[in-house]
Amino acid sequence: MPEDEDRTKSDHTSGNASINASVNAPGALTRRRFILGVIAGGAAVGAASYRFLASSSHHRSSSSDAGERLITIQVNGKQRRVDVMKQETLAWTLRYKLGLTGTKLGCDRAECGACTVLIDDVPHYSCSVLTHTVRGRKVVTIEGLASEDGKLHPVQQAVIDEQGFQCAFCMSGFVMSTVGFLKTNPNPTRTELAHGISGNLCRCQDYNKILNAMMRGAENLRKVSA
Ligand code: FES
Ligand code: FES
Repeated sequence: MPEDEDRTKSDHTSGNASINASVNAPGALTRRRFILGVIAGGAAVGAASYRFLASSSHHRSSSSDAGERLITIQVNGKQRRVDVMKQETLAWTLRYKLGLTGTKLGCDRAECGACTVLIDDVPHYSCSVLTHTVRGRKVVTIEGLASEDGKLHPVQQAVIDEQGFQCAFCMSGFVMSTVGFLKTNPNPTRTELAHGISGNLCRCQDYNKILNAMMRGAENLRKVSA
């Protein structure tokens, strides 16, 4: 064991010695240059990965151009003509083709609910719905909740009344889930509502305030519907 330790120590020491030798050799790298080289190498790797991402996304969009098909979908009461790829998700179409960025993309894999929209009045994760499958169906996003004159939906108003979110990244998903849930149960208990919107996550963990706001939204909605 001591022999192993000695060997390790000696390997380590000789490793250091060889680095020092190469760094200190005439005409060789100075320590400063060596460190700069490591940092620059890291930066180069970082830049390379960005370039890779950019080029793959460019590749994706250029190859998609060939595979895009013009379809019509109904979003927020309007017929929208849009070119979509066959594998394109509704979240992508809404955000990047139709400019409806109120729909957020969190996980992009059906886990967080940030991308929730209503399809035929039922909440769906739009990151997991293919756009071409919503032809002939009614899509509503957070932008479609307020009335024409700009009056907020009662659930949106409740968010303001209760200051219900911190960063609010998750907000549109929660609001859309709540609006969808209230269509089936307009007078829920707090537990029922919590259960009803449990498919939505908040990274700020602001659940208590969110539930206060959503319960207030239910109450607001009952008042205007009475
Ligand atoms: S972005 Fe769709 S569920 Fe998270
Ligand atoms: S308030 Fe920040 S993610 Fe929910």
